[in-house]
Amino acid sequence: MARNTPDLLEVAAGYDLADFEAAIEQARRPAGTGTVLLTTPQAADPGQAGPMKIGTLGAGTIAQAIARHAIRHGHEVVLSNSRGPASLAPLVQDLGARATAAPPAEAALADLVVLAVGWPQVPGLAAQLPPLDGTVVIDATNQFDSPPPNAKIADLGDLTGSEYVASLLPGARVVKAFNALFAQFIAPDPRHEAGRQVLFLAGDDTDAKDTVSGLASQFGFAPVDLGTLREGGRLIQLGGPLSGLHALQQD
Ligand SMILES: NC(=O)c1ccc[n+]([C@@H]2O[C@H](COP(=O)([O-])OP(=O)(O)OC[C@H]3O[C@@H](n4cnc5c(N)ncnc54)[C@H](OP(=O)(O)O)[C@@H]3O)[C@@H](O)[C@H]2O)c1
Repeated sequence: MARNTPDLLEVAAGYDLADFEAAIEQARRPAGTGTVLLTTPQAADPGQAGPMKIGTLGAGTIAQAIARHAIRHGHEVVLSNSRGPASLAPLVQDLGARATAAPPAEAALADLVVLAVGWPQVPGLAAQLPPLDGTVVIDATNQFDSPPPNAKIADLGDLTGSEYVASLLPGARVVKAFNALFAQFIAPDPRHEAGRQVLFLAGDDTDAKDTVSGLASQFGFAPVDLGTLREGGRLIQLGGPLSGLHALQQD
């Protein structure tokens, strides 16, 4: 059932990617219907994620929001920041027994890693990390050289933000996710009366995307795979048509 609400998308079959971009453009016009029908190549439930250790690079708004979902669903979380584990003691205490803190290089040894630091910090942080061969890394960053209100978007030439991040993390299986939602749409229970919060994701490794989709659907999100870091990443990164677009999937 379509709804005439500017921020609501209806996820449904029937549109290919080209139509989908056109439909989003239509919905974003002031007189648009606000309803977008889009096809998800991953319509099936990706299944639930077994308990794992999740490392966060960054322990701010986004890392904490993801950590709280993870802990609620039985995962262990290792948080890290630039100021060291001692500075995270109050947060770890608040998160409970499944949370610990460690330096970034140790948090990066987890089964799955969440990258959630400011864009200017990414290269320096990446240079401190051990090899991440095969590790699934959720890239939640947005390529702001300086954040709003004086926003400046990084010029990466031909690369999408996550292609650039992947180039700094050789061997890692990077999945772009959680970057396109404002924190207030990530932190709460994503299951709303009108539907589940859509979580767009993109990546070049299908198994890694299945892992992230499984985790996201366990948290209550409706994951929607948009393809590669190049094609899908372009749609959800800063400046893309899905950046900051908050959608509910009507089940
Ligand atoms: N906030 C949102 O609504 C939102 C939504 C989607 C995506 N994002 C993106 O997600 C990323 C994080 O945003 P945020 O809002 O969570 O930022 P935040 O609250 O400012 O947190 C940033 C975190 O990164 C840590 N950090 C900085 N340099 C580090 C380093 N070298 N090694 C390890 N940790 C380091 C900081 O720790 P210290 O304080 O110790 O330096 C802090 O814990 C950004 O790229 C942002 O664009 C934000």
